Amino acid sequence: MAQDLTGKLGLRRLRQSKTVRDLTQEVRVSHEQLIQPLFVVEGIKSREPIPGLTGVYRETPESLLKQIQADLEAGVSKFLLFGVPASKSESRFDSSFTAGQIAAIKNRFKDQVFLAVDVCLCSSTTHGQCGILTAENDHVDNPKTVEALALAALQYAKAGADCVAPSDMMDGRIAAIRAALDAANLDRTLIMSYSAKFHSRFYGPFRVAADSAPKSAGSNSLKDRSTYQIDPARPSDALLSSLRDAKEGADILMVKPGMPYLDILKELSQQIKKPWAVYEVSGEYAAIELLAKEGLIQAPLAHTEAWISLVRAGASMVITYGARNGRQWLAQRQES
Ligand code: PBG
Repeated sequence: MAQDLTGKLGLRRLRQSKTVRDLTQEVRVSHEQLIQPLFVVEGIKSREPIPGLTGVYRETPESLLKQIQADLEAGVSKFLLFGVPASKSESRFDSSFTAGQIAAIKNRFKDQVFLAVDVCLCSSTTHGQCGILTAENDHVDNPKTVEALALAALQYAKAGADCVAPSDMMDGRIAAIRAALDAANLDRTLIMSYSAKFHSRFYGPFRVAADSAPKSAGSNSLKDRSTYQIDPARPSDALLSSLRDAKEGADILMVKPGMPYLDILKELSQQIKKPWAVYEVSGEYAAIELLAKEGLIQAPLAHTEAWISLVRAGASMVITYGARNGRQWLAQRQES
């Protein structure tokens, strides 16, 4: 190592030109690693922009298919779908809207698209919590919620989802979903578990998009999701829940959010040899967009720098609202 520091230029010898810098890169990010989230909303007349998430929309069933076509042309073929049904309930959920969208996508695009589908109840409950409440209305009931999640996951898989991605943070849902899928001979459907999902304040723009903010007023005393999502100050919990989800049959594990949790991503991906996804969540993405709007940052270069940090920390795939610009932005970075 010492000789690197010798001579007039030392370590700067390898930074002297673009060619030498390119040649010695250790981390390379390709648009093939990026997953694009999609929102499809029942009962809206035309697609709606999402504050903070430039270029991402609450799509109608019709605009959704057009958007996917455009995404394929832009080199994006991996998606994470969020269905937002019009009717809400406390315990009886209807997954037919989302299942119908999955079937429409897969019928039209077949294996050109890899379709993962988020499995959670927060867009379906009247109160915006991620599950069914206990009789006392003061807690999310774990067994009842797991049962409802497994049913939804099964319906999504039957409709043709390549992957189901439970984001609810209930205990034991991976085993329940795997069992339900296998019993229906859907043994090839992947499970991507949001295994290290933190109780974060960076989910703001998403909750507008998915109509899923927890409502504290009304019938329950739960203000937020702190009784099921991981406390940012308890990293060991992220390891325990990821180990458990791997053991229960998750194929892909995830850290969420991304940049504020790079330490977690690095440690977990080193300790658990599974494919790791990371979710660059709505608030992280919007932060870059808002800085760019103020003229304080160059958005494409800042976005690609964020992706490099996530891959460097151990992610093999990145869920990002900018996936549909990925090919162009990464090329721009290479040219800069
Ligand atoms: C649903 C879910 C959330 C996100 C993905 N799935 C929100 C939440 O838990 O409140 C957040 C994604 C983002 O902010 O981009 N449970």
